[in-house]
Amino acid sequence: MSNKKALKEINEAVKYLQKEYKHTLQAGIVLGSGLGNFTEEIEIEKEVAYKDIPHFPVSTVEGHKSKLIFGKLGGKRVMAMAGRFHFYEGYDAQEVAFPIRVMKLLGVEILLLSNASGCVNPDYKVGDIMIITDHISLFIPNPLVGKNIDELGPRFPDMSETYNKDLIQKAKEIAARNKYDVKEGVYVAVTGPTFETRAEYRMIRTLGADVVGMSTVQEAIVAAHMGMDIFAISVITDIGLRDDGMITTHEEVLEAARQAEPKLATIFKELVAAI
Ligand code: HPA
Repeated sequence: MSNKKALKEINEAVKYLQKEYKHTLQAGIVLGSGLGNFTEEIEIEKEVAYKDIPHFPVSTVEGHKSKLIFGKLGGKRVMAMAGRFHFYEGYDAQEVAFPIRVMKLLGVEILLLSNASGCVNPDYKVGDIMIITDHISLFIPNPLVGKNIDELGPRFPDMSETYNKDLIQKAKEIAARNKYDVKEGVYVAVTGPTFETRAEYRMIRTLGADVVGMSTVQEAIVAAHMGMDIFAISVITDIGLRDDGMITTHEEVLEAARQAEPKLATIFKELVAAI
């Protein structure tokens, strides 16, 4: 697709949503697998199904709800994606990133991302939460490949500080206040849908990563391209490097995410209140 057509499609989605919801937005939130119940924290003012928004992809994976939620959280106005788009579902990298671009053109400057991930750091356990301080995106297609959309950001965006230091600091303070043991570390993005082989989990650890997952990074890349302030957090849902003969299942991932959700909900809510 040409960059002009891509921008036109983003703008058409933005125009549609501006008619549906007229308030100024302070933050955008993307909810990961098993973390969709977080929307109960939002005082909902408007819901818009993805299928009704021009050019919006539609989420297919179990555990996702496929709608945008607009409303109040922590005294601020937010929009949340209940259900995100994954490369492994068959969307290309630009489609995965489309809603984030729409958010930015709707006026959202702060993006909060969440996901379920497998850990390769031996100090982590299932149910832990980890603030993402950096990522490795080498195994997934970069959503900025193609003619640059100059209206959105530069051809060669800096990625040396993708995750906003102030937001990380605030989240750490919130975690400490609530007595949560929160980790900080590096997320490696893979395409999925296969979970990793044992050799791959070992390689990912060797690369300097703490967790691995199938989302978040393509969204973070387009958000960084547009100069958004990004905060991202992982719920550890399985142990990649385990020697108990067990295997990772999607059900296990969803269940672990559900159990950790209250911690994540508190952090997001208090973080939004603090911005
Ligand atoms: N690997 C990749 N993606 C994941 C995992 C994992 O172990 N757990 C949850 N998402």
